[in-house]
Amino acid sequence: MLLTINGRQRRLTVPPMARLLDVLREDCGLTGTKEGCGEGECGACTVLVDGVAVDSCLVPVAHVEGCQVVTIEGAAAAKRSAKALQNAFVEHGGAQCGICTPGMIMAALPLKAGASRDEIKTALAGNLCRCTGYISIFNSVEAALSPAKKGPPSRVALRRASAHARRR
Ligand code: FES
Ligand code: FES
Repeated sequence: MLLTINGRQRRLTVPPMARLLDVLREDCGLTGTKEGCGEGECGACTVLVDGVAVDSCLVPVAHVEGCQVVTIEGAAAAKRSAKALQNAFVEHGGAQCGICTPGMIMAALPLKAGASRDEIKTALAGNLCRCTGYISIFNSVEAALSPAKKGPPSRVALRRASAHARRR
C-alpha cells in the first residue's frame, strides 16, 4: 500500500483494514498521534486527511490510500499556524499531561486566522481533555489564531516609534 504521510511517500505492507492510528504509530513510528478511547470518542488520535481532521482510530488504512495524511510530526511543515498553536498551548497553559494536545492542535489546524470562540469550540467539540478544563485550551487556540498576535517589533518600527517620541 502506498501512503503519503507528512508529504513523504511510504510503501507499507499492512492489512487494508488496519487502523490508521496503529499504522502511524507502529509501522511508521509516528507516536505523536495518541490513542485515548480507541472508539472515536476522545479525539486524541486526530490527524488531517486531505486537510480534514479525522479520528485515525476509526479509519481503515485502505481508506487513505492516495490521500495526504498529516500527523502532529508534520503539522509545522504543512501549516504555518501549527508552530503558533504549539507555542500558545505552552504560553496559555493549554497542556498539562499533554495526551490530548496533539489531537487538539490537529483539530485546530484547519481553522482560519481570526476564528471566533464559537468556531474554535465547534472545531474542538470532538476532543476531550481530562486535565486542564477547556478554557485554557480555547484561550490557547484563540491566542494562536488572533490576527492581533504579532512578533516583536521590527527595528524599523522601533526607530519610527523613537523618532515619533522625540518629536512630541
Ligand atoms: S482514540 Fe480515537 S477518538 Fe479516542
Ligand atoms: S492535557 Fe491531559 S488530557 Fe488534556
